[in-house]
Amino acid sequence: MRGGFSRTMDLAAFMRLLAAGWTLIRADALIPRELDEVLPPGVRTLAGFLRLFSGRQARLGRPGERLARSLEPLGPVAIKLGQVLSTRADIFGTVFATDLSRLKDALPPFPTTLARAEVERELGKPVDEIFPVFGEPVAAASLAQAHRATMADGREVAVKILRPGIERRVARDSATLLMAGGLIAALIPPARRLEPVAFAETVVRSLQLELDMRFEAAGAAELAEIMNRDGWMRAPQVIWDGVAKRVLTLEWVDGLPLSDPATLEATGLDRKAVADNLIRAFLAQALDHGVFHADLHEGNLFVVPPSGIVAVDFGIVGRLSPETRRYLAEILYGFLTRDYARVARAHFDAGYVPAHHDPDAFAQALRAVGEPVFGRAASELSMSRLLSLLFEITALFDMRLRPELVLLQKTMVTVEGVARRLWPDHDLWAAADPVVRRWIARELSPVARAKDFAEEALRALRAIARMAETGGPPAVAPEPDRTASGLTWLAAGAAIAGAAFLLAWWAG
Ligand SMILES: Nc1ncnc2c1ncn2[C@@H]1O[C@H](COP(=O)(O)OP(=O)(O)O)[C@@H](O)[C@H]1O
Ligand SMILES: [Mg+2]
Repeated sequence: MRGGFSRTMDLAAFMRLLAAGWTLIRADALIPRELDEVLPPGVRTLAGFLRLFSGRQARLGRPGERLARSLEPLGPVAIKLGQVLSTRADIFGTVFATDLSRLKDALPPFPTTLARAEVERELGKPVDEIFPVFGEPVAAASLAQAHRATMADGREVAVKILRPGIERRVARDSATLLMAGGLIAALIPPARRLEPVAFAETVVRSLQLELDMRFEAAGAAELAEIMNRDGWMRAPQVIWDGVAKRVLTLEWVDGLPLSDPATLEATGLDRKAVADNLIRAFLAQALDHGVFHADLHEGNLFVVPPSGIVAVDFGIVGRLSPETRRYLAEILYGFLTRDYARVARAHFDAGYVPAHHDPDAFAQALRAVGEPVFGRAASELSMSRLLSLLFEITALFDMRLRPELVLLQKTMVTVEGVARRLWPDHDLWAAADPVVRRWIARELSPVARAKDFAEEALRALRAIARMAETGGPPAVAPEPDRTASGLTWLAAGAAIAGAAFLLAWWAG
């Protein structure tokens, strides 16, 4: 019985996969024609065949734009997939990643009566008792929507509520995504290096966390505390009485939304100072505290003239370990002083580049990254650009890209973009200088080294103690290797589509 049930489930997931594949084929977003000349002949033939089914929308825009457009209507899992893929400029190239990152997550709101019912059920009290004023939705996305409300004690708040039934939808589509990952791994051996199953699991996992508002509340509280310490950015207070698994209540932000172009013209706004604050806030979070708001686009930012900046939406929180922060300090310092051997050593020391590579050849490659970047005017320099060039070149040396670094780089791109739109001639390095200088001095000082050494020694001792207990060396999970060409992904997509068509043919 159970087998029969799971087979029907799988069939349903498979049908949804076919439908998703069909949507991508219609937009020529599965194996885009732009890739024809680099495809192996077999794949090219298949791509040509699939393109026979493409529709009018296939002619509009670049591949990343077409993919973004076709993922938007496919629901939260597809949107998340697009967002995660868009962080991988190292695999797909910058243009594709940027186009894909413009993917919109906006849907018509669900009715306020449903929202009220959710609040009552989750908070266990009549809405009027908690929120005497409960307004219409102010924003609606694929997972949740936000309402403005007033609490019984008069506090103005924003109430974010998950869409009714969204958990079921996500579970269903997650099964489809995991199936896609499994099929890719099974059918296309070269794609296994990309660990498509692990990749799908990552997407599913991050969605699961976003489906628990208590988790987001904790992220909001943690970041608010950190931001308060530095003073460059603020976050609304969490109203814990209004937090449950499906409901999040935050203090209402009385600022001007940065998503509104009119905000830039607001009287009394010191745009340059806001841009400075944004850059410093972000860098201090990441480099000093190792915790950062990883979704700092205009839609999540408000300004308060003259130069205050307030962030909302704590669904994605990035974290950098002390080791990673040290590594970043080493490479940035190395680049700034043009000491490429030092930058190379930082990569080998951190174990990011396998030991069998030649440090001198690696240093030469790093010089190729650094020299052109530092030959430019300061205002044209960009830290995210430096990091993305670095990622490109390190891929040649089998560098295993760490997800937290990818998230950092992606957030840097966003933050720098916002800063430049606030103040087009913004000198990012000048803005970053006080934070970066302090951090490098701290990370690279002899005291820091001594402290680190002590921590290393303690860690080694603990590991030995554990070994004595368990009678063997601790198991070390292999790092996933995330460097591979976009081609492999596309070949994977093609194979899935091909297999799907064959199966559909055979089944029907
Ligand atoms: N505390 C708040 N004060 C004012 N507006 C808010 C607040 N929280 C959210 N919003 C509004 O609701 C929108 C959606 O909330 P957000 O947390 O960004 O959800 P999503 O994860 O769907 O982007 C925000 O872009 C903002 O306009
Ligand atoms: Mg948002």
